Amino acid sequence: MKVMILGIDGYIGWPLALREIEKGNEVSGIDNFFTRRRVREVNSDSVIPISTMQKRISAVREKTGARINFYRGDVANPSVVIDAVKKEKPDVVVHLAEQRSAPYSMIGLKQATQTMVKNIVSTLNLIYAIKDVVPHAHILKLGTMGEYGTPNIDIPEGFFEVQYNGRKDYLPFPKQAGSWYHWTKVHDSNNLMFANRVWRLGITDVMQGVVYGTRTTDINRTGLRTRFDIDEVWGTALNRFCAQAVAGLPITPYGKGGQTRGFLSLEDSISCLDLSISKPPAEGEYRVFNQFDEHYSVMQLAQMVKEVFEHDTGKEAVIRNVPNPRVEAEEHYYNPEHKKLAEMGYRHSRELKDEISIMLEDLAAHRPRIEALSDVISPHTAWKSSGIN
Ligand SMILES: NC(=O)c1ccc[n+]([C@@H]2O[C@H](COP(=O)([O-])OP(=O)(O)OC[C@H]3O[C@@H](n4cnc5c(N)ncnc54)[C@H](O)[C@@H]3O)[C@@H](O)[C@H]2O)c1
Repeated sequence: MKVMILGIDGYIGWPLALREIEKGNEVSGIDNFFTRRRVREVNSDSVIPISTMQKRISAVREKTGARINFYRGDVANPSVVIDAVKKEKPDVVVHLAEQRSAPYSMIGLKQATQTMVKNIVSTLNLIYAIKDVVPHAHILKLGTMGEYGTPNIDIPEGFFEVQYNGRKDYLPFPKQAGSWYHWTKVHDSNNLMFANRVWRLGITDVMQGVVYGTRTTDINRTGLRTRFDIDEVWGTALNRFCAQAVAGLPITPYGKGGQTRGFLSLEDSISCLDLSISKPPAEGEYRVFNQFDEHYSVMQLAQMVKEVFEHDTGKEAVIRNVPNPRVEAEEHYYNPEHKKLAEMGYRHSRELKDEISIMLEDLAAHRPRIEALSDVISPHTAWKSSGIN
């Protein structure tokens, strides 16, 4: 199978490329190194050092014999996507190449506009490239569980039955995203749904939970690491908590820490994507998967990091709540469904506590890099002060 990965240089894109090579698939990819550049802009860097794309590709060739066809370019530029799709004629395109930071999108108007335009236009470019060049190819698009927000009812997988004034219909679940970034994903989902309705493209729209971890079986086998961000703009709460514990800094949940989200390990995220690739949608199908294993509150995460750190090192870790820079419900109902991937054969393989232990060990090997970045872990980007710059 020919698998094209938009965003192949990223946290998920790189281990997905390793998995697809291991499966014997032909892998190509596009990236413009947007994440590397933007992370440096906030004076941060991946804590786990990563090589250049050129070196990554040579290392893959050396270790596996496989060749990755790489295209450097911005997927918001139509010719970049169209030309690569024409050349590769992929069976599936996995679209991971979007600006993925909620805080980045909330810095101000410039960042909000860039996130809106690049994310939405890149998905439109892909839709048109598939429709006109390889109409039977599968679009596998990464959205986020954050598209749904935190409604006071159960969250279905994409669609639900609604009864209103005596009539019934099966409709998309109303979304209530919590940042401009998350809204771009909602707009992408609407555009994908429309493209499916008009042109019957085969689409999987993945509502992915927060991904954690530093390793996958393919990373362990090849030694080819993926990026790991810990700053307030690009690092997730769990990444920041692990880095804080390792550097001897207080673990800082935002607000009361009651915000609950779905989580899954990097290994399980890659397995879910691989399963979606190997079992594509039916001709003309638009399917939505809620992809996460468990849900935890931010405070539960902080406590778990503290517990695992203290158990593994015998040292004390301190939790200190800080004012929440985001506008979000800090205590809420949260019960999303996630059955479809399990029905297709997916089995969750990693436990959060075990992965935290591995993350802490991997981060401890880079403690000086974390200490050098300690200023950028604390929150600076506040939703309420987002302005015209
Ligand atoms: N990591 C998570 O916890 C998580 C959770 C839910 C959804 N997602 C989604 O999964 C996708 C991948 O996430 P990730 O964590 O690997 O992010 P990442 O930033 O590490 O990877 C994205 C890659 O895409 C590239 N890219 C971004 N914009 C581009 C553009 N316009 N043109 C070309 N390349 C571009 C970046 O340089 C980067 O290498 C994103 O769409 C993200 O929103 C991630």
